[in-house]
Amino acid sequence: MGVCDSTMGLSVTIMVMALLLSGAASLKTQAYFNKTADLPCQFTNSQNRSLSELVVFWQDQERRVLYELYLGREKPDNVASKYIGRTSFDQDSLTLRLHNVQITDKGLYQCYIHHKGSKGMIPFQQISSELSVLANFSQPEIASASNMTINSGINLTCSSVQGYPEPKKMFFVLQTDNSTTEYDGVMQKSQDNVTGLYSVSISWPFTFADDKTNATIYCVLQTESMEAHSPHFIIVPVDPPVPKESSRVWIAAAIVTLFVVAGIVFFLIVRKRNMEQQPGVACECEITKMENADNEKMEEIVKVHEPEKLDKTAQCVHRLKTPSSDKCATHF
Ligand SMILES: *[C@@H]1O[C@H](CO)[C@@H](O)[C@H](O)[C@H]1NC(C)=O
Ligand SMILES: *[C@@H]1O[C@H](CO)[C@@H](O)[C@H](O)[C@H]1NC(C)=O
Ligand SMILES: *[C@@H]1O[C@H](CO)[C@@H](O)[C@H](O)[C@H]1NC(C)=O
Ligand SMILES: *[C@@H]1O[C@H](CO)[C@@H](O)[C@H](O)[C@H]1NC(C)=O
Ligand SMILES: *[C@@H]1O[C@H](CO)[C@@H](O)[C@H](O)[C@H]1NC(C)=O
Ligand SMILES: *[C@@H]1O[C@H](CO)[C@@H](O)[C@H](O)[C@H]1NC(C)=O
Ligand SMILES: *[C@@H]1O[C@H](CO)[C@@H](O)[C@H](O)[C@H]1NC(C)=O
Repeated sequence: MGVCDSTMGLSVTIMVMALLLSGAASLKTQAYFNKTADLPCQFTNSQNRSLSELVVFWQDQERRVLYELYLGREKPDNVASKYIGRTSFDQDSLTLRLHNVQITDKGLYQCYIHHKGSKGMIPFQQISSELSVLANFSQPEIASASNMTINSGINLTCSSVQGYPEPKKMFFVLQTDNSTTEYDGVMQKSQDNVTGLYSVSISWPFTFADDKTNATIYCVLQTESMEAHSPHFIIVPVDPPVPKESSRVWIAAAIVTLFVVAGIVFFLIVRKRNMEQQPGVACECEITKMENADNEKMEEIVKVHEPEKLDKTAQCVHRLKTPSSDKCATHF
């Protein structure tokens, strides 16, 4: 029995020591960037000791002192310059408040309580707390980096700024009447040199679908602690779409017209040369004959481009329609 008791006593002592030494009594605390962090000490004053008997102080993981209360009085001598003017102490809860929290403040803090008795300083309590720092990203926003055109589509960029820690994921969501698709872009990250905050963005070279349904696009930013959505970007189909049939007709018409103009120019050059070399020889009416079907168009174009030659050409064309067309040259 005695052996058993002593073993139990020993194991309990070891456990308590392990707890104290390993910092298993570590607490997790969170603070927002530029706000205030609470670094607790969780002192259960079971022996009802007065603060005037105690030495209470906090250290960071590099053993720099944040604050010291020495036998009931603040003792600023040992406080590291980084923490001067940034702390306040709550005597009731024995909590240290660290103001204007920066990203570099994240890490492990130790609160020590010693009792000053006749035999000197006796360690009383040691509590670790792990501080993590957060900054809410701005609401993601979609901007179009280039203007819309039917064929080239639109380059959409979604961005969000000044957050911490690094986000996990950022993506676009495209919603139409009956479908929802996600687009995962490569997240571009940048970190501010001074504050350590992140800004992120993704781009999507979005192309319009052929169908005529409305589409809604928004962007989602996911961090460990939250998910934020951008305002919706609505794409209304371009109205009216250019039908492929009619565009083909127009292209054909343009090509025919080009040929006609080229034909006339050629015809006029040849005629001029013929008149210079062999006066009285017939004009090259055959050239225009080929384009008979487009007479009206040809006349219009001639009107525009070579008004002074219109009459003669028109006559030539006119003659082509008559039985005595081979005599057209005589009219010039
Ligand atoms: C920190 O907060 C103060 C006011 O509380 C504000 O004026 C300042 O711009 C903030 N700094 C940053 C970097 O956000
Ligand atoms: C603690 O001590 C104060 C005076 O120092 C006394 O008023 C109070 O009743 C004590 N509390 C306990 C729980 O002993
Ligand atoms: C950050 O976002 C959370 C959740 O949306 C919110 O509860 C909290 O108040 C925000 N904090 C700051 C400092 O804006
Ligand atoms: C978009 O179009 C507007 C005018 O229509 C123009 O001022 C602007 O520069 C264009 N932006 C881009 C990125 O091309
Ligand atoms: C889209 O815009 C972003 C930001 O302006 C740019 O980095 C990217 O190269 C653009 N992508 C395309 C395909 O134009
Ligand atoms: C969406 O639904 C309509 C009818 O409700 C259908 O005609 C169309 O093909 C559907 N589109 C897709 C992409 O499924
Ligand atoms: C598209 O949106 C516009 C305006 O929001 C609306 O008037 C139109 O009816 C919508 N069309 C379809 C096919 O949903």
